[in-house]
Amino acid sequence: MSTSSPTPAIVADGLVMHFGDVHALQGVSFDVPSGSVLGLLGPNGAGKTTAVRILTTILRPTRGRAEVAGIDVVAHPNDVRRRIGLAGQYAAVDENLTGRENLTLVGRLNHLATGDARRRAAELLEQFHLSDAANRPVRTYSGGMRRRLDLAAALVTHPPVLLLDEPTTGLDPASRQDLWDVIGTLVSDGTTVLLTTQYLEEADRLADRIVVIDHGLVVAEGTAAQLKSRLGETTVVLSFHDPAAAADAVGALVDFGASRPVGEQVVVHLPLRGGAGTVRDALNLLHDRSIDVGRIDLHEPTLDDVFISLTGSSAS
Ligand SMILES: Nc1ncnc2c1ncn2[C@@H]1O[C@H](COP(=O)(O)OP(=O)(O)O)[C@@H](O)[C@H]1O
Ligand SMILES: [Mg+2]
Repeated sequence: MSTSSPTPAIVADGLVMHFGDVHALQGVSFDVPSGSVLGLLGPNGAGKTTAVRILTTILRPTRGRAEVAGIDVVAHPNDVRRRIGLAGQYAAVDENLTGRENLTLVGRLNHLATGDARRRAAELLEQFHLSDAANRPVRTYSGGMRRRLDLAAALVTHPPVLLLDEPTTGLDPASRQDLWDVIGTLVSDGTTVLLTTQYLEEADRLADRIVVIDHGLVVAEGTAAQLKSRLGETTVVLSFHDPAAAADAVGALVDFGASRPVGEQVVVHLPLRGGAGTVRDALNLLHDRSIDVGRIDLHEPTLDDVFISLTGSSAS
């Protein structure tokens, strides 16, 4: 068995992209191992689409290097295009054709024989729950159906690498959930996915690893769990019956790093640094001082906490 790791399906190495004075990317690097999902997370204008356009050979980077399936995107754009599927926020399907016609056309444009193109279209319509609507013009489809068709179109040729640029932006929660299920299935089939999103929940749900970008720079990376633990710690939330009791508790628990309640609040946060023992010692101390605790809760940091602390803005 080889001990060397296989070539990543996607490599971005120091990507810089200038549009005149606009520095859309200022040196972005990341790898996506084969068969995994990378979530490229960032607010509007962070540079997500620019990175996707470089990886899909639509844009040539100002500086830096990128590879897809081991092939340099600038040196061999046609070879790269044969190995990728691209789907995104703006569905690139013909409104006046039916779903079936759209998918068959994509197959024909990719040099499949007519019978093969039809068979592949039927297979994808089934997989994406579009069989019932297959013979209707796309202009009659809902937003969620269009996105599913667009994603199906990107998969006609079984590309090993799929780039999804904000695949669920603007969809209602039910359609988003639907698309998440479909993307989850693709990944279990071994497709490598790079997915851009502004939604923490989406990255948390679909991505093996997350790269957070803001203003064209990588500001954090890791698994969702790593990002959360890096930036937030679990706290024990103690609720008291009145502000005076809360104030007494803060005084008693000062050595535990207890936070002072805000205003008239009756809630005290206690960092859970020392594990369960911390809680036991804190509660014993409060009991000794006859301070009654009303409620005990745990607060786990969310990706939203992480995002706000990294970029200064809420993502969703
Ligand atoms: N063709 C272009 N010409 C000039 N500026 C651009 C162009 N494309 C993108 N930008 C700018 O680059 C920055 C990053 O844009 P983009 O990659 O679309 O961000 P995101 O997809 O994360 O919202 C933005 O400031 C955007 O206005
Ligand atoms: Mg974008």
